[in-house]
Amino acid sequence: MTVGRRGHPSRISVGRSWLSTSSETLALLRHLRAFAFGAIILPSAVEKTMGATDAAFAGSIPAIYEQYMGPMFFEPYAEDMAERLRDVRQGRILETAAGTGIVTRALVRSLPPQVEIVATDLNQAMLDLASRRLQAPNVKWQQADAQKLPFEDASFDAIVCQLGVMFFPDKLAAYREALRVLRPGGRFAFSV
Ligand SMILES: C[S@@+](CC[C@H](N)C(=O)[O-])C[C@H]1O[C@@H](n2cnc3c(N)ncnc32)[C@H](O)[C@@H]1O
Repeated sequence: MTVGRRGHPSRISVGRSWLSTSSETLALLRHLRAFAFGAIILPSAVEKTMGATDAAFAGSIPAIYEQYMGPMFFEPYAEDMAERLRDVRQGRILETAAGTGIVTRALVRSLPPQVEIVATDLNQAMLDLASRRLQAPNVKWQQADAQKLPFEDASFDAIVCQLGVMFFPDKLAAYREALRVLRPGGRFAFSV
């Protein structure tokens, strides 16, 4: 990746693709900073940007996630996450903070079609892109805040959440909600 070429300070190249507008470039840089220096190295830094990040998964961000950050960061972890749920052979899986559906697609590839996947995210813009990429009879896309899930108690066999928990302002509420909607003995797989 190349950032800030001489004479073109607002252009970024990732592989052979170019982000040509300064707003796209700034959005990608802000998200990269949150991941490189916030989520991975300095958790407090990501907390400080939280107000902005919640609302910032819209506009050009879904496409940037899908085209640049997904291949760079999320896809290998998505494969790993799906592998951890490979033994789920029936029932219902809830995905929170599903974003543009990178994990959802990995789950669909690895699970039998009788497993129902309810893929949720706070930001409808992320789900709009996700649902354009994947339409499957066993996948339902639904807007939902992980801290206040619109589902009945004990209604899922497993919950999966990749790189979402660090964006939840009230993490305890989100963990409580996960516990509430999981059936007894169910599994909550998440990565941060
Ligand atoms: C880094 S992305 C991860 C997306 C996806 N899990 C992946 O691995 O590609 C974080 C996602 O968390 C979502 N998010 C932030 N706050 C949320 C909340 N309170 N409830 C549900 N999703 C939330 C954002 O909209 C965004 O799609």
